[in-house]
Parts: sequence; structure tokens; C-alpha cells
Amino acid sequence: RDSKVHQNLLEDHAFINYKENVKNLDIVKSRLNRPLTYAEKILYGHLDNPEGQDIVRGQTYLKLRPDRVACQDATAQMAILQFMSAGLPEVAKPVTVHCDHLIQAQTGGEKDLARAKELNREVYDFLSSATSKYNIGFWGPGSGIIHQIVLENYAFPGALIIGTDSHTPNAGGLGQLAIGVGGADAVDVMSDLPWELKAPKILGVKLTGRMNGWASPKDIILKLAGITTVKGGTGKIVEYFGEGVDTFSATGMGTICNMGAEIGATTSVFPFNNSMVEYLDATRRGKIGEFAKLYKNDLLSADEGAEYDELIEINLSELEPYVNGPFTPDLATPISKLKEVAVQNNWPLDVKVGLIGSCTNSSYEDMTRAASIIKDAAAHGLKAKSMFTVTPGSEQVRATIARDGQLDTFTDFGGVVLANACGPCIGQWDRQDIKKGTKNTIVSSFNRNFTSRNDGNPDTHSFVASPDLVVAFAIAGDLRFNPMTDKLKDKDGNEFLLQPPQGVGLPPKGYDQGKDTYQAPPKDRSSVSVKVSPTSERLQLLEPFDSWDGKDALNLPILIKAFGKTTTDHISMAGPWLKYRGHLENISNNYMIGAINAENKKANSVRNVYTGEYKGVPETAREYRDQGIKWVVIGDENFGEGSSREHAALEPRFLGGFAIITKSFARIHETNLKKQGLLPLYFKNPADYDKINPTDKVDVLGLTEFAPERELTLRVHPENGEAWDCPLTHTFNEEQIEWFKSGSALNKIKNEKTH
Ligand code: F3S
Repeated sequence: RDSKVHQNLLEDHAFINYKENVKNLDIVKSRLNRPLTYAEKILYGHLDNPEGQDIVRGQTYLKLRPDRVACQDATAQMAILQFMSAGLPEVAKPVTVHCDHLIQAQTGGEKDLARAKELNREVYDFLSSATSKYNIGFWGPGSGIIHQIVLENYAFPGALIIGTDSHTPNAGGLGQLAIGVGGADAVDVMSDLPWELKAPKILGVKLTGRMNGWASPKDIILKLAGITTVKGGTGKIVEYFGEGVDTFSATGMGTICNMGAEIGATTSVFPFNNSMVEYLDATRRGKIGEFAKLYKNDLLSADEGAEYDELIEINLSELEPYVNGPFTPDLATPISKLKEVAVQNNWPLDVKVGLIGSCTNSSYEDMTRAASIIKDAAAHGLKAKSMFTVTPGSEQVRATIARDGQLDTFTDFGGVVLANACGPCIGQWDRQDIKKGTKNTIVSSFNRNFTSRNDGNPDTHSFVASPDLVVAFAIAGDLRFNPMTDKLKDKDGNEFLLQPPQGVGLPPKGYDQGKDTYQAPPKDRSSVSVKVSPTSERLQLLEPFDSWDGKDALNLPILIKAFGKTTTDHISMAGPWLKYRGHLENISNNYMIGAINAENKKANSVRNVYTGEYKGVPETAREYRDQGIKWVVIGDENFGEGSSREHAALEPRFLGGFAIITKSFARIHETNLKKQGLLPLYFKNPADYDKINPTDKVDVLGLTEFAPERELTLRVHPENGEAWDCPLTHTFNEEQIEWFKSGSALNKIKNEKTH
């Protein structure tokens, strides 16, 4: 138990820290004095301060020290730019960056990849040079999808990792807690700040029995989504247990954990078991499996009698394949009912496209099962009726199925093999077979199917299912087809029933790693320079924000008094703006353009209180900023709900904002604002929101005595009339007040390291 075992084969500086985890856990156990679930053990084993940490599931905030960070290319840009602005020589924890989101599917793997490299050259060059400079592993375009690469190379039982993508929980299939976060959290861990998470509740899912026939691991999560709905997992970790967990593969568990994101779960996890040992072995990490066995009883399994906040039981022996959708992943229909439900709901019955693969379902097992169905159909002379695409999750999976023949089976069937990247799953799909606005059905083995997600067409009815069912639909071309009961006609008109899929869990000849797409950071990084062109439209180096001037802020205009719901999408829209994620100046042109101005009930139309002119929100903010005038925003309830997008906090700071004053905040957005040196403040009396006019000016008073729990005052100066005061509360702690005073959390780190 005392050996030093590397976390992976690629980094010589990262070791597995079970000993430290157990030490922390012992401290927590002696304090809590109750049996713990497996997820709790991983979390509490990674506490920053196990002696002093308050632990109440669903209530307190845990300060954690994750083992590593993974970033995809769209979110990595701003995370790294922010990290750079802290002036630190290298990241504090192992980090990897994965180029998977920016590759558009058009004609097929190689051509699409070449085009993406051309189009995104400056982003890739930046990421490649910045990762080299700051000691980060870089997986270039073509290497594969972040979650598949993490599973193949970095995940290990008992680890805690964060990743800047919602499906990071995929790694729960190897018994680790992997949590999807925003860029700001990644920057915290990269810069050695503890990372904060509300102590999750634990939803226990007991699996009994064993799957058979057409049922697959995907169907477990599709069924669960139907039970819990898309909100059922919010604030919870889904922890699987029961004898059923030992009956299927680690990659199958990965699929289930991946899609736990669809029920809103913080993450999902399976306890350490033999399937994980086998997968670790097959991916050349047998040593980790052996090491983990030594910690199985105390660290890598739940305690006897551990209590769950909720419990759901699924009998795998009775599990039917499910098809979920359209438009939401929790609308679960068992295959035996699909015909009836599809007709009743008037869903388009022709299956136009079947898409397999993605981060969710592209294991060797998935591919061999899919290929077995196709071979069966081919033996009867059948090819795909629908268009059929295959997205391998990684170069390793692609090379292995190319060597072992499944790839040929797919192409002979009429399939198009896309790049090892997100592609149609994230909407990077230049779909040509139908016109936008045409009602149609597609079925994929992906995880999400919200309106327009895959092809940008709101009339596409997108369903998610196992790769097995996707293949069956592609053969039949019809959503009413149930491969378990419905016969097909072979080339001679004879009827036959497809055989249930037969898969191989792990490649008998071992994995073929394919092309070498990994770039390790060099040992000597002093001469590496980071490539950002000053004329780039997509990337811009960040200048540190100014520190606080030590005075109360007087006579500030209200940029906008937002009316009603203001989500992070209203604050910093996604869609076409995504390409500016690495360019704060350009992306700031979307600041609050979706929010409604309480004065005229219009979006993106606010009055410059000095000139009287109505203009867009970002333009007006710039006018104020360029004249050295700070401003505030007034907001309603739950301001900033939605995603953890840090741009929603960076933009107002960049445009000269000083305080955001609301009835209440969504917590992540509130913390993000604090990190950027802004003041998120609350009306003590929510009714004061109504008394403020958008043309009033305000003073924020009491800042020289700014302290936790101490109220501040907003003095309101109406355009005509007497000034009046309203009390403001806040949730700043001592450390966060220092962020404000330094100008941002990163400035504070920088000051500490340089002084
Ligand atoms: Fe990519 Fe889709 Fe997964 S976008 S990371 S393949 S959910």
C-alpha cells in the first residue's frame, strides 16, 4: 500500500494519492461517526481541511483538492487565458486539453479534420503553445473526444477530477468522481486554489439481475432518466451498487455515468470492481488495477449500511431497450411501446439518419455489438435504409476497429465514418440530406437531444438510444421497428428476425493506439512562447483588471435595470458568439443583449443617462467605461441562473461594471462575479427593486469597512427628488473581500506569489 504508482503512462510527475485520501477519510470518519457511501469517501478523501470542514449533505460547501483537470478546446481558451494573466509559471495540478469540439462533420473523417485544422489554426496553435508553456498535456485535433481519452488514459478508481464539459462524469465508469464545471473552476484548480462544491446528496441506484438480449447499459440510464426526469439528479451524485454492477463492462458503466448529466446529476459513479481492473489492464494500466485492489475495502467501496438520500432499484433481468425523445432525453419509451407512442404523437416515422459513436457510446464493445447486427443483416443481403454515421470516440478506438474489421463492416453497410470528435453531437454537422424546417426523425447513440442540438433544425425529432437500436432503425428505416419482435424481409423476400447483438468487451488483440496525437509539454519550457496574434478576432490576451481604489463608489449610472428572468444566456448568449470565447473584447459585444430593460421592456435598448440616447447595452457600457464612469446593473430573482459560463462575469468587469445588485443570485454566477472583482449585492428588502428607476444614480457606501456579514448601503439619487438609502447584504467571506480589493481572485494569487 505504500508504493508510488503513477496516475497514468504519460506524466511522470503525477502519482496516485490513496494514502493521503485514507488519512483524510479517517479524520472525517472519526468526526461523522457513520458509514459512508463510495462517493462520499472520494469527496471527503480530497478535502482541503478534513479537520475543520463542515459536512452536511445538501447544505454545506466543501473545499476540495481535485487530482486533475481536463478541458475541451472551446472552454480551454478562456480558462488558459485567465490562468496566464495570473503570471504563474505552470499549472499546480495535472491538466490536459482536448481538441474535439471545433471539428465540423461534413463529408467524412479525414477531409473534415483537414478543414477544421485550417479553420481553427490560430486556436489550435494557441492551445498547443500555451499547453507547452504551462506544463499541460495537449491532445490535438483528431485524437478523440475528451471523455473517451480521459477514460483510456487518465481515469483511475478513487480519483476526483474536474472537467470543463458537462459529460465529464463519463469517467465514473472507472470508479472515479468526475465533475463537469465551468472555466472559472478549472482556473482555481490550475492556480492552486481549493475548489468549492456544495456537499451533494447521494441518490443510490441498486442494480439487480443481469441484462440479456437487446438490453444494454445505455438502457439503464435511459430508463433512469424516465424515472427521475431531467431535474431529478440536481445537487446529487448518483451512486450505483448491488450485485448487478458486476455483470457488465467498465465502458458500459462509462456510458451510464456520462448520461447522468441528462438528469442534472453532479456526477455518477460505480464502485471499484473487476471490470475496471480488466479495462485498466487492457489500456496498459494493470499496475493501477493491482494497486487499487489493495484499497478496495477501506477506500474504494461503500461502507456497509451507508445511507442514501434516495433509492431507486432497477432489475436488469427485466430491462427493455428504451428510446428517449424527441427534444428531451427524459421522455423514455420502451421499445415495446414505441410503435404506438410514435404514431399517437405523430412523430415522423421515417428514420432519416442513424448516428452511432460519440463520447457516450463508442467503446470497442459498442462497436462490435453494432457490427454484429450489421453482419447479420448483410448476411441476408440488407444494407442501411437510413443514412448512417459512425463517430469513433478516440483515435485508439478508430484504429482498433479499423484493424479488426468493424470499420469495413460499417462502410460496406453504407456508413460514413466521421472524425474522432464531437461533430453532430454538439451541432458541428453540415447536414445536407434535408432542408432546415423539414420535419424529420434521426436516432443517435449520443446523450442530448434538445431542440436543434444536432443539426440546428428545430423540426428534427432527435431520439437517443443504444447503438444497437440505432443500427436496427438504420436497417429498417422506420421508427416503428422493434427488432425483438418484428421480422425483416431478406433480399429474396423471406422473413427473418435479427439476432440479438453479440459484443466483445475488450479487443482480444489489444488496443491499437493508432496515430500519435498526444503532445507532452517539454521539460524545458522557458523558451516556449505563446502564440496569440494581436490582430486575431478569436483570441486576445487578458490584461489584469484594476484593483479597487479604496473608496466608496459615488454617482454611478444604472446600465440596465433588468426585468424578469436574467439567465447566463441573457447575459452572455451562446450560439454564434461561441467562436469569440477566447476574445474578451469581441465576446463582450453580447453583454446583456438578451436581457429585458425594465424601462421600455425591450431587449438591448438602454438609455445613456448622460446623453439621453438609446443604444445597445454593450455600446452604452463602453461609452461609460471610456469616460471613466463605473456602472451598476439592477436585477431580479435568481440572476445568472443557467450555465457556469465565466464570460457572463468577465464581460461586465471588462466593460467597467462595479456592482450587480439583485433580489437574488444563482450561486455559481455570484461566485464568478466575485472572482472577477465585481460586487454581487442583494437588496435587503426585495421591494426596493421596484422603487429604483433606471435613470437614478447610485452610491455604494460602506466599502471602507467591507466585512463578512456587514451590510452595505445603496444611496439612490433619483433624477428629480430626494436621495434615499436602501440596505444591501452580501455573501462575501474574508478571502473573497480580498479578491474584490485586489481587482480579481487571480490578481490576489498573483500578488501573493510575487510578494
Ligand atoms: Fe462532445 Fe457530445 Fe460528448 S459534444 S463531449 S461528444 S456530449
